[in-house]
Amino acid sequence: MQQHKIIIAIDGFSSCGKSTMARELAKKLGYSYIDSGAMYRAITLYFLRNQVDYSDPVKVMEALANINLTFEFNEEEQRSNIYLNDEDVESYIRDMIVSEKVSEVAAIKQVRAFAVGQQKQMGKKKAIVMDGRDIGTAVFPHAELKIFMTADPEVRVMRRFKELYATNPHISMDEVRHNLELRDYIDSNREESPLRRAEDARILDNTALTREEQLKLVVDWVKNLSPKMEPSI
Ligand code: DC
Repeated sequence: MQQHKIIIAIDGFSSCGKSTMARELAKKLGYSYIDSGAMYRAITLYFLRNQVDYSDPVKVMEALANINLTFEFNEEEQRSNIYLNDEDVESYIRDMIVSEKVSEVAAIKQVRAFAVGQQKQMGKKKAIVMDGRDIGTAVFPHAELKIFMTADPEVRVMRRFKELYATNPHISMDEVRHNLELRDYIDSNREESPLRRAEDARILDNTALTREEQLKLVVDWVKNLSPKMEPSI
């Protein structure tokens, strides 16, 4: 039974293992988990499929008006999948073609306003873990616990490579490295809420941590929040 539900905001560079950690933490606490990156990816997929000229703000607004994003829990996979206009697009949004464009799309002011508005709404009832790039700075600046995740760049390249190689054996390490470097650069240097650590975020470098070690560390952080905020685990 939980006494005080909180919001946990997790930010960090691409492929630091944010989603894995956030999902496991949410499960442990009985909270919802929202992968905000999936929202930007689904919007990018829509733009690509419909050949939306996203350099044109009017076309962007028209396209956004036709996009409905929802998350639905998939019992079999034990995770929430993202739906784009009622279609489960989880298996398309990690494709390289989406990864190559998503940072450009996520830098568009109207796209951010659209996604951030929905994300704030999802936090109304608290009891949520959300990961992304601006969660502790723009979406939930008052989150009770903020975590900024990082890991050695080559470790991140290797992790993402393994993930992509499973479905695309033609992918190269260089391609993955280039994509990660480019995304980190665009995400950190864009005008609209760039990726940066919130001043009150705790840093979690998981280069040398196992999944179990990192989960334990974060669960301890939750337990050690002030008693007023602490959810009983
Ligand atoms: O976490 P991810 O790699 O799936 O995110 C995909 C892209 O979306 C990433 O390059 C930056 C963007 N993003 C963002 O700008 N803000 C967020 N809150 C989450 C993701």
